[in-house]
Amino acid sequence: MKIGFTETVLRDANQSLIATRLPYEKFAGILSEMDKAGYYSVECWGGAVFDCCLRYLDEDPWERLRKIRAAMPGSKLQMLLRGQNLLGYRHYPDEIVKMFVAKSVENGIDVIRIFDALNDLTNIEVATKEALKRGAEVSGTISYTQSPVHTIKAFAKLAKEMEDMGVTTVCVKDMAGVMSPAEAYELIGEIKQSVKVPVVLHTHCTTGMAFMTYLKAVEAGVDVIDTATSCFSGGSSQPATETLHYALTGLGYETGLDPAVLKKVNDFFKPVRDEFLKSGKLDPKMLATDTDALNYKVPGGMLSNLVAQLKAQNAMDRFEEVLVETPKVRADLGYPPLVTPMSQMVGVQATANVLAGERYKNISKEVKAYCKGEYGKAPGKIDPEVMKKALGDEQPIKGRYADTLEPVFEKTKAELKGIAKSDEDVLDYVLFPQVAEKYFAARKAKEEKVVRYTIAPAD
Ligand code: CO
Repeated sequence: MKIGFTETVLRDANQSLIATRLPYEKFAGILSEMDKAGYYSVECWGGAVFDCCLRYLDEDPWERLRKIRAAMPGSKLQMLLRGQNLLGYRHYPDEIVKMFVAKSVENGIDVIRIFDALNDLTNIEVATKEALKRGAEVSGTISYTQSPVHTIKAFAKLAKEMEDMGVTTVCVKDMAGVMSPAEAYELIGEIKQSVKVPVVLHTHCTTGMAFMTYLKAVEAGVDVIDTATSCFSGGSSQPATETLHYALTGLGYETGLDPAVLKKVNDFFKPVRDEFLKSGKLDPKMLATDTDALNYKVPGGMLSNLVAQLKAQNAMDRFEEVLVETPKVRADLGYPPLVTPMSQMVGVQATANVLAGERYKNISKEVKAYCKGEYGKAPGKIDPEVMKKALGDEQPIKGRYADTLEPVFEKTKAELKGIAKSDEDVLDYVLFPQVAEKYFAARKAKEEKVVRYTIAPAD
C-alpha cells in the first residue's frame, strides 16, 4: 500500500515556525533536488505566503511561484486557499475568486487545497469549480474541530458533499494539532467509507500526538499525509518527513520517497534553521510540545494571542476567567472551528466579556458581521440572546454574502493605471490595498536604482 507525502517546508512549516519569513533566495538552491524526492506534492504557496511576500519580504508572490514552477518541473505544486476569502481576511466577489484561481493555475499551481473556516460549502464552491475548470486538482478541505455539532457522521457527510462537488481529494485539516490517534482512526475510517476519492490528513505536532495520529490514520486507510523536512518539523510544525518515511517503510508501506534526496534536502535547510534561531526569528518554544491546547480546548496560537491581549491591557490576572469564557463564547456562536478569522473573533469577544464585567456588553464589529451571516452559515445555532444583542432590529442576510458584492476588478485596474503592470498586480491590490501600494512603491524605487547602476559604468 502506498502513502503519499506532501512536503510543507516551503509553506506551513515556514508559516508555523518562522511566521512565513523565508525569502525565496534562502531555498532557491534546493528546489531542483526537492523535485527528485518523490513527494506526492510540494506545498509552497498560499496561506500566509502571499501576504508575507508583499508585506515583509518585498517579493512578488507570483514571481516566486513562477520561479518555483521553473525549478520543479516534475513536482505537483500545491497551495492553500481560504475559499471565498482567497488569501485575504474578508470575502471577495466571485469575479475576483475566479480570476485569482485562474491566475494561480496559470502561474504554476497544480493542487489547490480549499477550505472554509465554518465548513460552509457555499464558500468553497466557486473556487472549486473554477480550479477544476482550469485543470487543477482540488483538495476539498474540512476544518477539523471538536464540538457537540462536529460529529464523525457530520464530517463524513461533509466529505461526501465535497466529493459530489467534484473535488479530487478530501483533506481533513487539524490546524490546532488536537486530533488524537483514536479520533483519527475513527474519523478517517468513516470518511474512507463514505468517499471514493483519496483522503488526506493534515495535522501539527503542537500537542505531541501527530506521529501517533498519522500512524492510526494510515491504519484506517489514509492516502496522503503532510510532513516537513526534519529540521523544520515538530512543535507547531508538521511531523518529520524522514521519520515517517522510515517508520512506514518498516511497516511495509511504500512512500515513493528517495531517502538520499530527503537527506540532501534536510542538510540544505539545517543552516537556514540555525540562522533563524540565531536571529531570534525562530523561537525555540515553537519547536517544543505544548499540551495546553488539550487542557483548554483552545489552539496554541490562540492562547499566545490571548496572553498578548491581556498583557496589553494589564489584565493577566483575568487569564483563567478568559479561558473559561472562551469555550462559552464559542458555544454561543454555534461552535465555529477556532481557525482564522474565528479564533481571533472568539478570543477578542471572550476577553471583552470578562473585562467589561458583563457578557456581550460590547460586541465587536466582526462578531456582528458573523451573526449577520457575512462569514457564512454557523455550524450550530447561534444563541438567540446573543443574536438579538448583536443585530438589534437588523435581519441576518439570506443566502451567500458574496452574492451581495459588486465586481471590482475593472474599476480597480483603471484606478491603478500606470502603477499595476499586470492583472496579478491588480489582484494583489484587491486583496491587500495598503500593503500592495507600499510594495509597488518599493519595487519602483528598486527598478530606478537598477537603471542608475546600469547606466553608471558607461559614464
Ligand atoms: Co496547518
